[in-house]
Amino acid sequence: MIIAQITDMHVMAAGQMAFGRIDVNANLAAALARLAAHDPRPDIVLVTGDMTFDGEVDEYTALAGIMAGCDIPFHVMPGNHDNRARIRAAFPGHDYLPRGGFLHYTIDAHPLRIIALDTLNPESVDGQLCARRLDWLAARLAEAPDRPTLIAMHHPPIDIGIGWLASDRFEGRDAARDIIARHGQVVGVICGHVHRCVQAQWANTVVHTGAPTAYQFPLDLKPHAERGWVAEPPAYSLHYWRAESGLVSHTGYADGFGAAQEFIE
Ligand SMILES: [Fe+2]
Repeated sequence: MIIAQITDMHVMAAGQMAFGRIDVNANLAAALARLAAHDPRPDIVLVTGDMTFDGEVDEYTALAGIMAGCDIPFHVMPGNHDNRARIRAAFPGHDYLPRGGFLHYTIDAHPLRIIALDTLNPESVDGQLCARRLDWLAARLAEAPDRPTLIAMHHPPIDIGIGWLASDRFEGRDAARDIIARHGQVVGVICGHVHRCVQAQWANTVVHTGAPTAYQFPLDLKPHAERGWVAEPPAYSLHYWRAESGLVSHTGYADGFGAAQEFIE
């Protein structure tokens, strides 16, 4: 089974550029085109949040238009730049999304079970898993202990070492760790939010943050690194799962990058 992950697309209203310079909408379209060209094709696409720049209606309209070009079944979840009601409105045919409350759900139709979590706190950029969401997670894990399971959510439950991101500010993180650590069927936790591809050990499993399609945050591990962005290539993840060998996570780059490569004779 191949699970594609796209994350942090930060789509703008049609014709707008992020920071006046980055065509984030074109980056998303390029990443989708690259996904569609993979052979074998991904079975599903998981979209791990921050789908829009500011959660505005015009941005969701642009997002839905671009995602309409994705003919691989895709599933969405919210990031801190998203709005639950507007996600529901943008994707009316996505019946896996609960009609009210948190946008969490399971995908059970594949050999690898997927649990998508909603870590949005509308009051904050930081992650949140409140008691109700933690109870829901614990119940989902308890009901299928023998099924290999991948957890997907926007906020990573780890400190990636880039200080200004404060990626360890996540309400309910330690409780989530304790729940997940008790369930050996969890083969990985895939996230976004930090705009870089990072791996870390956590809760007896592995956390992978997917590289974004929009723009990256600089790889600067100085304790007081300044907040910023850098136009590294738009990217996506391919998570390749086989029962005999487990989960392997790759990063791929969207078309247009690599075209200027030179060969060494
Ligand atoms: Fe983001």
